[in-house]
Amino acid sequence: MDSIIVTGNGPLNGSIPIAGAKNACLTLMPATLLSDEPLTLTNAPRLSDIKTMSLLLQSLGAEVTSLQAGKVLALSSHNLTSSHADYEIVRKMRASNLVLGPLLARTGHAEVSLPGGCAIGARPMDLHIFGLEKLGAEIELREGYLHAKAPKGLKGAVIELAFASVGATENILMASTLAKGTTVIKNAAREPEIVDLADCLRGMGAQIEGDGTSTITIQGVDRLGGATHPVVTDRIELGTYMLAPAICGGEVLLEGGRLDLVRSFVEKLDAAGIGVTETPQGLVVKNRGDRVKAVDVTTEPFPGFPTDLQAQMMALLCTADGTSVLEEKIFENRFMHAPELTRMGAQIEVHGGTATVTGVERLKGAPVMATDLRASVSLILAGLAAEGETIVNRVYHLDRGYERVEEKLGNVGAKIERVKGQ
Ligand code: UD1
Repeated sequence: MDSIIVTGNGPLNGSIPIAGAKNACLTLMPATLLSDEPLTLTNAPRLSDIKTMSLLLQSLGAEVTSLQAGKVLALSSHNLTSSHADYEIVRKMRASNLVLGPLLARTGHAEVSLPGGCAIGARPMDLHIFGLEKLGAEIELREGYLHAKAPKGLKGAVIELAFASVGATENILMASTLAKGTTVIKNAAREPEIVDLADCLRGMGAQIEGDGTSTITIQGVDRLGGATHPVVTDRIELGTYMLAPAICGGEVLLEGGRLDLVRSFVEKLDAAGIGVTETPQGLVVKNRGDRVKAVDVTTEPFPGFPTDLQAQMMALLCTADGTSVLEEKIFENRFMHAPELTRMGAQIEVHGGTATVTGVERLKGAPVMATDLRASVSLILAGLAAEGETIVNRVYHLDRGYERVEEKLGNVGAKIERVKGQ
């Protein structure tokens, strides 16, 4: 397995292009299953999770062609051959469960293995099942697979989610576009990736209103057509790279970055003393080298502070002046980066879903282990500011969510290299 070696070497300056959102692309791709006409996604990120989703869709009979070095994905599901999403693919990535709703809506049945994904908590699928059952599906769990069928087709319903789950909202949204009548999703997730999915589905002919709010209303249609859709900017990649100059000092332009995607995160950066400016080219982050101030952070569904930036924010707060309290409210086991940061000299105490970070003047490089996707990149960020060399081992999770991380950080002056594993 590859490792990444980072050596802390001072301020970063220049610009970093931000890719299309992994999490948007992973829900836009299965939308192809809803139609027999082509779906073209532009601004796609080049990541291993996208390859996993391509393999899954291909195993169902969809065609997935990667164009322009992976930046454009041409998808077609005119000839679906299977409704079976196999464990061998699904276990690699939880987002595989996003084929369930569209397969069911288009073909009337689906067998989808329960997923794996990051080791950050139990991550059940009860809300997906609840919503699809409300639409009239019959779903049973047998031998690790959800067996879903809708022999008489899906029927619109009012569905109130107990929690604003992103994946459940996406699955129900996709399925209900082809259901008979009106569906109302209450307490729907409001993430920008949901809005992006709704935009794409509208382009395919779906009738959707209210995305981006807690109540989404869908008027079912008989069929969906094709569309070409640009994937929204990756707000998590954006936030991650915004933290690089925040941690090391310097001035970096995040190309394509938009304030509306990261507002709650920017509020916390502001409180920590980091300046962020929006320009037509993107967001500019500047830190003259002053030590940041401690801030408290609580993760919440959008528009709150994203759980997917908690680990990276912790890396920043490790060297803040004062004590910060981070509360993780979305996943129950998402502080696995804390013991690794502690190996670099950070002072962190974890009790349940709360981490208390007492800032130290400087971290020290150390060999550390990447435990999940966002934890991996938090260790790289910490390494950028640490004294000496940090070796981040087992970085395969990183490649699931960040394209060319060494190149992007290297181009703004970071000393970072990948060492190929066996
Ligand atoms: C998506 C993102 C992930 C992000 C998360 C929260 C993708 C591919 N992944 O994941 O990066 O961290 O949103 O912003 O878009 N839950 C249930 N029952 C369910 C579904 C979820 O209890 O049926 C719980 C989960 O265990 C978790 C919480 O709800 O504790 C959030 O999950 P959810 O919003 O569904 O996240 P994902 O869609 O899996």
